[in-house]
Amino acid sequence: MSFLTLQRISKRYGDFTAIEQVDLSVERGEFLSLLGPSGCGKTTTLQMIAGFVTPSGGTITLDGRDITNERPEKRGMGVVFQSYALFPHMTVAGNVGFGLEMRNMKRAERAVRVAEALDLVRLKGLDARYPKELSGGQRQRVAIARALAMRPELLLLDEPMSNLDAKLREEMHIELRAIQKRLGITTILVTHDQVEAMTMSDRIAVMHRGKIAQLSTPFDAYERPQTPFASTFLGRTNTLAGEVRKHNPRCAEVDVAGTMLHVPHEGRTVEGAVNVYIRPEKVRLANGDARVRGTVATRVFVGNQWLLVVDTALGKLHIAQPNFGAPPPDEGHEVGVAWTDDDLRVLTREALHGNA
Ligand SMILES: Nc1ncnc2c1ncn2[C@@H]1O[C@H](COP(=O)(O)OP(=O)(O)OP(=O)(O)O)[C@@H](O)[C@H]1O
Ligand SMILES: [Mg+2]
Repeated sequence: MSFLTLQRISKRYGDFTAIEQVDLSVERGEFLSLLGPSGCGKTTTLQMIAGFVTPSGGTITLDGRDITNERPEKRGMGVVFQSYALFPHMTVAGNVGFGLEMRNMKRAERAVRVAEALDLVRLKGLDARYPKELSGGQRQRVAIARALAMRPELLLLDEPMSNLDAKLREEMHIELRAIQKRLGITTILVTHDQVEAMTMSDRIAVMHRGKIAQLSTPFDAYERPQTPFASTFLGRTNTLAGEVRKHNPRCAEVDVAGTMLHVPHEGRTVEGAVNVYIRPEKVRLANGDARVRGTVATRVFVGNQWLLVVDTALGKLHIAQPNFGAPPPDEGHEVGVAWTDDDLRVLTREALHGNA
């Protein structure tokens, strides 16, 4: 049995349905992310798990126990809120050690725990400061340290690193994940940062309008999106509108603006109006084996790669080319473009109007 289970969980605010019959199971020790755009219901879902928001329907069980109506403090979870919620009248050390003190942990042991947690979030030496004497990013890290110090069985994190600079955030991703694994803390992370979700998670639940659009490993979420929303939300992609002309055993023949593409359908039936997707890093400039020709419309250098937009008969194609050293052809030049059919994905466009 899963450690945490949400069964047909809903949340309505008046006429508005924020969460609609969500089912979700989280295994013990798992790191799961709720990823989705602003307003899709991530915080609401997390707050229902934490017990601060009461579901309108459905059941939540933790380790076999029905906690749907249990008070938050009884659930024994560690929570980092989107707003941090530090105690303003307590120092950093006081904040981080508060829960341990409530548990009657001895002062010396507590001091070690607090120091460890502060070290982890890179706040050594700031123990005596008050929250108002800290930057936003530092406050956020105090909140993370406070939750970690408790070594909870279930850790709930709501955008815990949104205020950190890119480099610190990257380091924290790796360190938090390492400590989470070492201590086996089951963790649910709410984020709209795709890289954060990808780097840290065992599984990602992509949320869209109060539902889970896709639940899978980061690799599958990126490589095999199951809905048009997941295709375009996670990473960048080229979307080509087409029409299925023939459904072969392994691939569909799709007419995109007069060019026939052979797209693997992975056993699913696709028909009628479809979208064909291909990631920019899977499209390349080519000479001999070019599939279409086009004109470079924009060319941008971002350090490790070049981002190009090429006008072709299929439409505008975005290309991400690793920086090999020599710049690719400049704007206005004619180029050949190629890809491998196996890298194409196809989804029926009807699904656009469905729940995802
Ligand atoms: N107390 C409330 N009363 C009415 N509507 C609410 C309430 N709380 C949240 N909502 C609505 O429910 C939806 C989901 O909100 P939620 O806070 O879960 O989004 P989110 O995915 O966490 O977004 P963000 O990334 O911006 O934090 C939003 O449309 C929001 O306006
Ligand atoms: Mg939120």
